[in-house]
Amino acid sequence: MTGDDPLEESESGKPVTDGGAAGADDVALDPWGSSAVSDYRKLFEEFGIERFDEVLEEVPDPHYLMRRGVIFGHRDYRPVAEALREGEDAAVLSGFMPTGDPHIGHKLVFDEIIWHQQRGADAYGLIADLEANSARGMSWDEIDEHARDYLLSLLALGFDPEEGELYRQSTNRELQDLAFELGADANFSELEAIYGFDGGTDVSHMQSVVTQMADILYPQLEEPKPTVIPVGPDQDPHVRLARDLAERTRFFKVSKAYASFELEPAERELVADLYERLDPAEFDDDSLRCVHVAEAIEETPLEELAVSADTLGSVLTKLEEAGMEPVRPRTRFFDRRATDEAFDALIDAIDGEKRVYENHVDAFELEVGEAEELAREVEVDNGGYGFRPPSSIYHRFMTGLTGGKMSSSVPASHISLLDDPEDGYDKVKAATTGGRETAEEQREKGGKADECPVYELYAYLLAGDDDEFAKRVYDECVGGERLCGDCKEQAAQLMREFLAEHQEKRAEVEELLEDADIELESPRA
Ligand code: TRP
Ligand code: SF4
Repeated sequence: MTGDDPLEESESGKPVTDGGAAGADDVALDPWGSSAVSDYRKLFEEFGIERFDEVLEEVPDPHYLMRRGVIFGHRDYRPVAEALREGEDAAVLSGFMPTGDPHIGHKLVFDEIIWHQQRGADAYGLIADLEANSARGMSWDEIDEHARDYLLSLLALGFDPEEGELYRQSTNRELQDLAFELGADANFSELEAIYGFDGGTDVSHMQSVVTQMADILYPQLEEPKPTVIPVGPDQDPHVRLARDLAERTRFFKVSKAYASFELEPAERELVADLYERLDPAEFDDDSLRCVHVAEAIEETPLEELAVSADTLGSVLTKLEEAGMEPVRPRTRFFDRRATDEAFDALIDAIDGEKRVYENHVDAFELEVGEAEELAREVEVDNGGYGFRPPSSIYHRFMTGLTGGKMSSSVPASHISLLDDPEDGYDKVKAATTGGRETAEEQREKGGKADECPVYELYAYLLAGDDDEFAKRVYDECVGGERLCGDCKEQAAQLMREFLAEHQEKRAEVEELLEDADIELESPRA
């Protein structure tokens, strides 16, 4: 988001005192605010979310939400895709704040969890009751009622509770211990910068943040594994913080190095670049030394180096101080918070030539990737978590049926999974469309399927796995062959069928829920 300085200027020139979380027109990702996104491109450019279509090919038998671009973004999904492909361990986890009825937007996330579970991932669905209580002021009675509804829908859609795990935050002691521990690595300034917290933010709300951090890392408590968190992009601040915290708990930091001293990333790039360019054979005793690199840098025209003056200055100082030390690429294990035993175990575990320093070990015959695996193994063997940074996938928010955003507080804007099938039918019939003023104009110019909430219903839900059907609706719409009246009628009927079927299944899984290992009544209620 906006980095560490809470008073940093926003693009509009206003000082941002809320970490960029508010502000109607700026792109903002705010977990407790509006979840409308006006411009998805900005999420790539400003927040560093990656495009999902770039990993799509690596996903075995991708879900229709992936194929249709409803899942549009991700962070670091590759390791998860690879684990699914290779049949290796992976996990999927998402959480639900029980503040109202589960609706068709939540169904996207339910489906994503279930899809990963069916492809072999350990699956977790959690009820964020602590968050609902602290951040939304829900009573425990309300929470219990809604929690049950979320869980029934999740099971009705195919979640297997025997293979997967369901829990509620408030009764999961292991989770709370992990949250407490992670809280030791996060401080108030950081939460202020990320979430816009201030002196008036209550402590329980802050605790709900560390609880969510623990949720996200919970699947890795037994052992580290690629884990994906399917969520809306409003949750991205949480994902980034969890990725940072995961990193902070690690015993060792693995990096590439060129000599005994530490380099900052930009400095390292410069040295790497020169290392590639210089030929050791041109130097006195066939060995390239730090001073030689310093000299070469000084002789290279500045334009060619493309680094800041600061970086240039600091690299030169470091190289000159090291003097005649040979430059040799190596893989470095920096000791972040390893116990003495773990540090010694690491030294023993490194094969080939190595050098041990006070706070790091350099290995000369290990690639960075192998070194990372080794560091994780040693950490886990010595009582650490060895967390992998959690991955995420992001789905688009559905447009409200009445135009604007879909909001739980505006019943006509969304379809609840508990809506009477006839009401579902009526809501679709009453929905706004991307149609033209008159049938004639529609035949001539075609409808605007890309701006149509009804088309979204087809693509996100009603067409199911049938890409051909979704495409036909789209093509017929933009080609002017489809008129909104019939189109809505068809969608409304499909919605009615879907709701009736879903509710039947909900009734069938009641028993499954009673047998599942999750408390349905809060001890506080
Ligand atoms: N904060 C999420 C929401 O507002 C709920 C949540 C809690 C969650 N813990 C989570 C989501 C872990 C994903 C992963 O809906
Ligand atoms: Fe939307 Fe269907 Fe009308 Fe096209 S024809 S604008 S998809 S309602």
